[in-house]
Amino acid sequence: MPTPSIIAIDGPAASGKSTLGRRLADALGYLFFDTGVMYRAVTWGALQRSIQIDDEVAVTALAENAQIDVRPPSKNDGRACDVLLDGVDITWETRRPEVDANVSPVSVYAGVRRALTAQQRRIGLRGRVVMVGRDIGTVVLPEADLKIYLDASAEERARRRYTEIIGRGGSADYEKILAGVRDRDRIDSGRLVAPLRPAEDAVILNSDKLDADEVFARVEALCRK
Ligand code: CDP
Repeated sequence: MPTPSIIAIDGPAASGKSTLGRRLADALGYLFFDTGVMYRAVTWGALQRSIQIDDEVAVTALAENAQIDVRPPSKNDGRACDVLLDGVDITWETRRPEVDANVSPVSVYAGVRRALTAQQRRIGLRGRVVMVGRDIGTVVLPEADLKIYLDASAEERARRRYTEIIGRGGSADYEKILAGVRDRDRIDSGRLVAPLRPAEDAVILNSDKLDADEVFARVEALCRK
């Protein structure tokens, strides 16, 4: 089998999708595209403009009209990519706790998803891409050549997110992070449009007992099969 050209990686919050996706894209010389940053950019834009998150019409208009750019990293400060909203670098703003708390409700809106999915699909169909999200294998790129669904327990995922924040020099409360992860899981899995679930033809990997190197080795082996 030739090396898959379109690779979809889906899974719940902090399951290690971005770490895996970035590494895989580097190894294959592909574009890495994390679709979560687009939902985060819309959420940050809404918060900044004092748009009520429950105002579906206003949030959807923002998603339709805002210029979201995701580019290779311009700074060596730990970022995976630059995220620009209407030309302004909002990379680190998209990681703020208030974005974590509001991004899943924003992602429920059908109009928001329609606007962002169209852009993601256009990029993905060019091929030689590793695209990461919640609905890549099911909705954005159902024709993907390889689909991975990366899972892990909520406790393990919260522990990883905690370590990540502390590693960046921030402060964090494990119990709060765990509650936030569970909340996002519930909203992401329960929504009507493009809920989080594995595609029927996805390879499901549970990373509770696998470190990042082991996950990468397994997926790389699948690519080279
Ligand atoms: O990095 P983490 O796994 O915490 O989240 P993310 O991938 O940045 O995604 C943030 C949120 O955006 C998710 O909780 C989903 O609500 C939403 N999302 C989505 O609905 N569909 C995608 N393809 C990607 C993200």
